[in-house]
Amino acid sequence: MPEMPETPETPGMPETPGMPETPEEIILTGYRPTGRMHLGHWFGNLQNMLALQHDFDETYYFVADWHALTSDWADPGRLIEHTEDMVLDWCAAGIDPEKSTIYRQSDIPQIAELNIYFALVTPMGWLERVPTYKEQRDNIQDKDLGNVGFFQYPMLQGADIAIMRATQVPVGEDQLPHLEVGREIVRRFNYTYGEVVKDGKGKGEDLVVGPLVEPQALIAGAGARVPGLDGRKMSKSYDNALFISDDEETLRHKAMGCITDPARKLKTDPGDPDICPLHQIHRLVGDAAVIAEFDECCRKASCGCVAHKRKFADDIVAYLAPFRARRGELAGLSGYAKEVLAAGAAKARPKAEETIRLCRDAMNITL
Ligand code: TRP
Repeated sequence: MPEMPETPETPGMPETPGMPETPEEIILTGYRPTGRMHLGHWFGNLQNMLALQHDFDETYYFVADWHALTSDWADPGRLIEHTEDMVLDWCAAGIDPEKSTIYRQSDIPQIAELNIYFALVTPMGWLERVPTYKEQRDNIQDKDLGNVGFFQYPMLQGADIAIMRATQVPVGEDQLPHLEVGREIVRRFNYTYGEVVKDGKGKGEDLVVGPLVEPQALIAGAGARVPGLDGRKMSKSYDNALFISDDEETLRHKAMGCITDPARKLKTDPGDPDICPLHQIHRLVGDAAVIAEFDECCRKASCGCVAHKRKFADDIVAYLAPFRARRGELAGLSGYAKEVLAAGAAKARPKAEETIRLCRDAMNITL
């Protein structure tokens, strides 16, 4: 693992004491380690993470194990296993630990300190009003979500982001309310503890300059939604997922069970590829010319769904083969995931420490 310079520098930008660095784009996102990744994650998140790693110099990808604990606190038994699985999935998919900083939330205790400062400036009402909060408390019956940890989930998420002074946060739409609360908390923190700087442009508006950066959401492109084998959204809890680490036999078996256009009962009935989950998943992994042929023969009822499923099975197996091989290699290197996480934490920590120093200075609690 490469060494990171002590303080990440912005070329050509002079450092002003007590002020944040002039923001270059800093990308940060995290996921809760809740189990194996499926094609929905692969197309919805991982491909986006890969593209961002390629396009930006500073990318932080972290495993949000504390967030997983806010709901699974009573049963943390498989957290480490899931954390390591996630790191292996990321690395085998091409997230490069030399380019992106891959770390585990709980290895950066500064996040917890920032969370304490955030708790000072966050009115409880802001957290009570987050739509996912009430929704999940009402809907999830098998876990006790009446704890403070789950209540402050979005605030902790804000601390994850602010600690690295991230400017862009790639997330799904479901995360937007969390991000918005995080932005408000940052604004309130900066307003409370920052300095008022007279507007130099003569517009008469004073600027509040605080140590923290307000992040922007980066919504992944449309088309990232992957249907499951039963046509609903792909999800582990619906039992309709193709996992990226499924072995060949499992993939083939699942592919043959994929539902097709429900209105096409007989091979002689014409079908509609646009509402057929098989076509939609196949489009993501198959050759365009082959898909076009299946589209046409489905509409004309000149081929059957079973033949299509067989071809899809071949294609999904072939598509995931390089990933599976790479994942097998990495899993065979003893301690690989732990090493990646240790190196990532060592890279991330100096920046987190710097943010905390800036916050303590702003709050006047530095001795
Ligand atoms: N809430 C996110 C999820 O459920 C995980 C998360 C935690 C996160 N902290 C974050 C995402 C910071 C982006 C930035 O997937």
